[in-house]
Amino acid sequence: MGQLTEEQASSELNELAEMIARHDRLYYGKDQPEITDAEYDALRRRNNAIEARFPHLILPDSPSHRVGTEPAAGFRKIRHAIPMTSLENALTLDHMRKFLDGIRNFILELHNPNVSIELVGEPKIDGLSCSLRYEKGLLVLGLTRGNGIEGEDVTANVKTIKDIPHQLPSKGWPDVLEVRGEVYMSDKDFIRLNEQQELVGGKRFANPRNAAAGSLRQLDPDATAHRPLRFFAYAWGEVSTPIAQTQWEARRKLKEWGFKLNEPSGLVEVIDSDYTTLSRCHETIHVQRSSLGFSVDGVVMKVNRLDWQDRLGFDSRSPRWAIAWKFPPEQASTVIRNIVVQIGRLGRATPVANLAPITVGGVLVSRATLHNRDEMERKDIREDDTVIIQRAGDVIPQVVEVVKDRRPVHSRPYPFPTHCPVCGSTLAREEDAAETYCTGGLFCQAQARERLLHFVSRNAFDIEGLGEKNIRLFYEKGLLRTPVDIFTLEERDRHSDPPLSAWKGWGDTSAHNLFDAIHRARTISLDRFIYALGIRQVGEATARLLARHYLTRKNWCRSMEAAVDPDSEARESLLSINGIGESMAEDIVSFFREPQNQEVLSKLYRPRNDSESLVTVRDFEPLNIASPVSGKTVVFTGKMETMSRSEAKAHAERSGANVASSVSKKTDYVVTGPGAGSKEKEARELGLTILSEREWLNLIGKA
Ligand code: IVH
Repeated sequence: MGQLTEEQASSELNELAEMIARHDRLYYGKDQPEITDAEYDALRRRNNAIEARFPHLILPDSPSHRVGTEPAAGFRKIRHAIPMTSLENALTLDHMRKFLDGIRNFILELHNPNVSIELVGEPKIDGLSCSLRYEKGLLVLGLTRGNGIEGEDVTANVKTIKDIPHQLPSKGWPDVLEVRGEVYMSDKDFIRLNEQQELVGGKRFANPRNAAAGSLRQLDPDATAHRPLRFFAYAWGEVSTPIAQTQWEARRKLKEWGFKLNEPSGLVEVIDSDYTTLSRCHETIHVQRSSLGFSVDGVVMKVNRLDWQDRLGFDSRSPRWAIAWKFPPEQASTVIRNIVVQIGRLGRATPVANLAPITVGGVLVSRATLHNRDEMERKDIREDDTVIIQRAGDVIPQVVEVVKDRRPVHSRPYPFPTHCPVCGSTLAREEDAAETYCTGGLFCQAQARERLLHFVSRNAFDIEGLGEKNIRLFYEKGLLRTPVDIFTLEERDRHSDPPLSAWKGWGDTSAHNLFDAIHRARTISLDRFIYALGIRQVGEATARLLARHYLTRKNWCRSMEAAVDPDSEARESLLSINGIGESMAEDIVSFFREPQNQEVLSKLYRPRNDSESLVTVRDFEPLNIASPVSGKTVVFTGKMETMSRSEAKAHAERSGANVASSVSKKTDYVVTGPGAGSKEKEARELGLTILSEREWLNLIGKA
């Protein structure tokens, strides 16, 4: 190396980068390596040696920027044995009352006000949740929550966290035990890490939660090992045998097995409608908040009896047996520098205030939403105003009020634009609605870009590498307009000059990684596909309801096209889905009325060159429940006697049935109890199978 000139070094580095990228592709992309691991390692060593000698020649896409033998594209995705859901949030005692009423309503025994509910309260830590799988006491897998259904394999990384045992002590654990909890960083460690980052010119983290997430998701486990991460256990996923009868007892078990628990915690009993014990528990933890040394943003309340937890189960989003009672939002005062109007993916125009940056609850805030024109006028918010802002959890900061006596003398109301600041189309407002919309549709760059961003986002097509920056870049270069373009990008790139790999800041590897990520995303489940389309009001939960009802992409699309007619059977069937109302149904069919949307849809799944289509939508996999009512549609009417109506519905769903709210020809069973009225009559007229509660329970094997 002593003799190597700068020029030779530079050309060799280029050559090595290309060779290594090529072998990476062969190895990771095609599973067809052409050289041995030792030869590959030698290439990398040579590259590193030259870089060490000529650091100023390191290429922007140098192989050394990618770590070890892992593909830079990311972590392996693995399905959770039991999904990891999130929690419903409560901000007030009133909301907590409703939560408890829901439980009282669900569990029939609790209809007797003398029966009390025990709850465990523990801090809600702000980190990121992980699931740790132990088999025969040995840590075999660590997954992030991911989208709740699939997580990222971070086994090597979690093994570097001191609070996480690799081997459980020999004490009565089930053979399969998934411990769930939060990976987090203490306030002190967070500050220290940021100081270090500053010294080495690295990126500062906005808050401990981001720091924890960034540290855990390092491709190089050695990098994670150098980050001060900790872990609290608070729940479990799959277990081969039950671990306890109550949450409180389960906590004790987790502790025995070597896990740290989140403290301070408490066990409270709520009798009838006396909520003092509950409030006290929340207050006690709130008071200690600032001395805990890590960030806590509320108290998680969990039903203590695990048999009740089991019966209560989950709705489409979260458990019915737990809730996060958040602390009141933190407030601060700052100045509005200016106001801009942002256009969302559906064209909604949202006024946003750019603020003099300020820290609220440990997070640096520089923008706040002003919601809509009416809200802004009602609070009379103007540029240069001093305002009180607040931030609650992950919610976007908002302006609470204007400090009027600090308003500059020359202040004028903000003139809300009449035209879209991005595309110039008229901003319109539907009658009686607060929201203003840009009428530009996909002609508006902002809308088109936001839709693309939604399409590739984590819970939709999940295409890593197509973030805001790249969507903007490709949009501006005219390469991306609709979702169809994403999947033809690689093919078009082959004929373009220069190709992506020759763009500034790009290289073979980064271009390859992007195409690879797009390729991997081509197959998608029906629920994610529906969500990705970005139909107004159709979030993840609704998308799942639709997928569960229609099962295949073809059936769904055909039915929605038919449902455009308001008097059609298809419309009736759409409305019969529990959780889909008139306004949602209207938004869904409106999407199908748009010719532009129809075009995108058909291009996405029309087979190309007699072969593959751009995307493949996997049929919805109904929970594979061996039950005689799996896939059947049932309607309950009248009073139930052995369980509450809510429990009966939830129970039917767990047995694989679809519960509908109205009777139609497609209904398989109508379960009637005392007081059944018009629905039973309708069912008779249609000649449907009518069952008593007992007959139904017999059918599902519960009697
Ligand atoms: S229990 C089935 N307990 O909050 C849900 N979660 O917003 C089980 N979290 O995803 C979760 N502290 O990451 C539970 N003491 C605690 C928690 C906690 C923080 C996180 C968790 C969850 C999120 C929900």
